[in-house]
Parts: sequence; C-alpha cells; structure tokens
Amino acid sequence: MSAATPTVLRQLSPATTARLLGTWHAGGPAYVALADALRAAVLSGTLAPHTRLPSERELAATLRVSRTTTSGAYARLRELGFAVSRVGSGTVTTLPQRAVGPGPGRPAGGDAPVADDALRGATPAGVRSGVGHLDLWQATPPAPPELHEAFARALEGLPAYLDSGGYEPYGLAPLREAIAARYRERGVPTTADEILVTTGAQQAISLLAHTHLHPGDRAVVESPTYFHAMEAMRDAGGRVVGVPTGPLDVDLLASTVRRSRPRLVYLVPDFQNPTGFVMSESQRAAVREIADRYGVTVVGDETLVELGLSGEWADGATPPAFAGDGASPHVVSVGSASKAFWGGLRVGWVRAHPQVIAHLARARQSADIATAVLEQLAVTELLGRRAEVMAGRRHLLRERRDLLVHKLQESLPWDVPTPPGGLFCWVDLGLPVAQAFAAAAAAEGALVAAGPIFSPDSAGATSRVRLTFTRSPAELTEAVPRLVRAWGRVAGRQRSAGSARHGTT
Ligand SMILES: Cc1ncc(COP(=O)(O)O)c(C=O)c1O
Repeated sequence: MSAATPTVLRQLSPATTARLLGTWHAGGPAYVALADALRAAVLSGTLAPHTRLPSERELAATLRVSRTTTSGAYARLRELGFAVSRVGSGTVTTLPQRAVGPGPGRPAGGDAPVADDALRGATPAGVRSGVGHLDLWQATPPAPPELHEAFARALEGLPAYLDSGGYEPYGLAPLREAIAARYRERGVPTTADEILVTTGAQQAISLLAHTHLHPGDRAVVESPTYFHAMEAMRDAGGRVVGVPTGPLDVDLLASTVRRSRPRLVYLVPDFQNPTGFVMSESQRAAVREIADRYGVTVVGDETLVELGLSGEWADGATPPAFAGDGASPHVVSVGSASKAFWGGLRVGWVRAHPQVIAHLARARQSADIATAVLEQLAVTELLGRRAEVMAGRRHLLRERRDLLVHKLQESLPWDVPTPPGGLFCWVDLGLPVAQAFAAAAAAEGALVAAGPIFSPDSAGATSRVRLTFTRSPAELTEAVPRLVRAWGRVAGRQRSAGSARHGTT
C-alpha cells in the first residue's frame, strides 16, 4: 500500500465498533462478513477514514470471535484498500487509492480492485460514486433546470455587492427578507432580523449545538433521526438521548425532558429523516408547550418541508409551520435550500428570536464568517420562483419514489411503505439484519443506510434500511437486482442458520 501514514483522528473502542457493526455476521466465512461490514461502514461515511480500529485481540474478545477472524478481516480490509497497518499505530481505516467494487456500468459483485486515480484524496461520498457503487444512501436530488438561470440572474445582481467586503455574517438582506416572507406566507409572523443565513442547514444545527451544549449536557432527539445532527451534538460534547418516533411519542418526550433536563431538543417534523413521518398539528403544539414549560430550546429542522408528494401534500401544500405563531423564544426553526433546490448551493437558515440570531452570528465567526454571496443571490432568485420550481421537483421525486417502491415491492418480501414526501423509503426487512444486509449490498455494489445508525445508541431499527429514491430511474432500476442478490445472500444465510439450529440441513 503506497498510502502515506494518515493522521489518526480518533480511536474506536471495541464496544463502539461492536455497536456500529450490529448483527454483522449472518453466515458465511466470518472474516469476510466482518471485513464487509467494516468496509460498508467506511463507504457509508459512518466510520471515518483515519480512525484507528481496536486491536485484533480486543475486537475478537468483544465480538466473541477467534483472533483468526479479526486478523483475517483486517488483512482483507488492507487488501481492499480500506485500511493500512503501521508499526506502533495499529490498523487505521483509509480510503482506497485503488478502488474496489464494480466499475461504472460493469456487473456488480466482484471484489477485484479497479484502478481509479480520481479517488486520490477522495471523500467517502466521492469514493461511493467513484467505485461505481449505486448510492441509495446519500439523499440528494439533482439540481432543477431553473438553477442555471438563477445563477445568471444572481451574477447580474452581483455588482451591487462588489463595493462591500462581501462578509455578511447574518446573510444578505434580500435573502433574509425572502426567507422571512416565506414564513409569513406559511402563517408565522417573521421579520428579517429573526433570520440568520447559514452555510447549509448542517451549519445551523452545528451552531445551535455548539452554542447550547456544554460537555456532558443532554440533547434529546427522535429515535431514529438524522445522523449528522446527532454527530453535531456529540461534537459539541452533548450526550444524545432518543425518544421513539414513527410517530413521535409526545408524552414520552415531555417526561424525558422533565427527567433529563436537556439543553436542546432536535426534531424533524416534516417527512422525517429517516421514517418519512409528518408530525400532526396537535403534536407540534404539544412540543411548543414542552419548550415553554421547561424553558428548553426546541429545534424543528424543516429541511424537508417543501417535499410533500402525495395525499394532502400532493399539490404544494406544506405541513404546518413548526414555529406555530412564532412567538415562543424557545422554539427555533432550521431550513435549507438543499433539498428544495440543490445541495450544492450550501445555503440554509435559522429562524429564531433576534437575540438567538445575534448569538449564532457571533458563533459562526470562527466557523466560516459568512455564506458566499453569489449562492445567496441565486437562492433569493429561486425563492422568488419557488412554486414553479417545486412543481417540477415534486413531479420528478414522485416518479422516482413510485418507481423504487414498485420495484422493491415486486422483487423483495419486505414491507415497503410509500412515504407521503421527503427523499427516502424506510423499509422493513422483516428480520433484524440491517447491518449485514447493508454490508452485503455494498459488496454487490449498492449503498444503503442501515437503520441502527439513525438511533442514538446505534442499536435501534435493526430490521430497517433507508433507501433514497433521488437517483435517476436508470440507477434505481440497476440498483434493485443488486439489492435482491444481497438479500438472497443474507436471507439464505439466515435460513441455513435457522435450519442448522433446528437440526435440519
Ligand atoms: C433533516 C436534515 N437536516 C439537514 C440536512 C443537511 O442539510 P444541508 O444540505 O442544508 O446542510 C439534511 C440532509 O440530508 C437533512 O436530511
């Protein structure tokens, strides 16, 4: 392996590794299954590159497998380019310099290395697409046709800003006003000074986490929930506590807040990531009441709110605004241009009390100072054409959702509900083998998100996987046979393990 010694950013304990892997072994040679599961974790981004893995001995003891299994698995990972070993620093995850897996357009299933220089220094997302994996993990719709024109008009408007320094920590005034206007349109009285433009909703979540949490403070989330929100809270030192959702148990939320006195509650009220659930109006009112009663900041992440696809949301109606009448100083809304328009814009926002906004604007100084001007101008344009852009978006997403749901339902014995909106199917496999299935799917050349990564203790939703339907019809069509093969491997192993237990073969 020609990789330079990576900077080790963190060390994974044997217990965390075991939690991350879940039911990784559903049959077959154990060292292959273990290597596949670790590789799937790296490919999906849940196991960061440059992470030091536990020693072979420690991992063997924790997983209750032989040392031969862990050393075989680590050797296989090294061979595939997903780990390097160095004297004194153990086994460290890395990204392949020679990619592994089926090349674009080639049949899946092979483990033969494929040379791909483009992968040097790639991110996990880059690796995912670079090795020809069909990515049903990352839920990112393509840009709408109107995007190009929005940038052309933004460029025309740019000269008005060129005499300024270009740093606008609160965001450009016209964009703040356009975002405030959208809240007013949805029934929430809002002024521009209640809006902070951020570099994506992810930065909004991260700023909220870092300004509200001190090391050891609790943060309450739905379980399952958006993976990178939990990460942001942990990065800020928070201890993340889950309350079951799908739908959200509001009484349990109230008692959890009463008992654990969190500094932050984070919820995804619309087409929830990953379950697709929409919080009812009365649940939203109950959540705001909890915020006021306990004086806890409750964040409603409305990143997905514009993505209604069927039923009452079929024609562009959006679920009720999380902020209600917008009066509570404890209720904060987060929004984003990423899913409605395009992830590459990296524009998000926070709606909150002006004092909270000022606090967040100060905190962002050490992060990125401000969001890029041209992108903000483009989003202002797109918000001006929102209804038209979203009509096209809904059409595209509905078609892709229906295609994936139909293909899964006809090819696999799973429970595949049709989500009313959002970007993913939250599929019930019927067996608690989500991680083993995700690993088998990665080996077949398809990336799926295993349910447990969405729960705070990495232990829930073991029979669920999240599949995005944002990919093109051709990619969705190509992915399903890979999933079928992966399921055959996992379910077949389950069956033979079952018959072996019952004394039959
Ligand atoms: C619920 C939720 N919030 C926030 C984000 C990140 O959004 P952004 O691209 O605006 O940072 C995502 C991305 O998938 C998401 O699903």
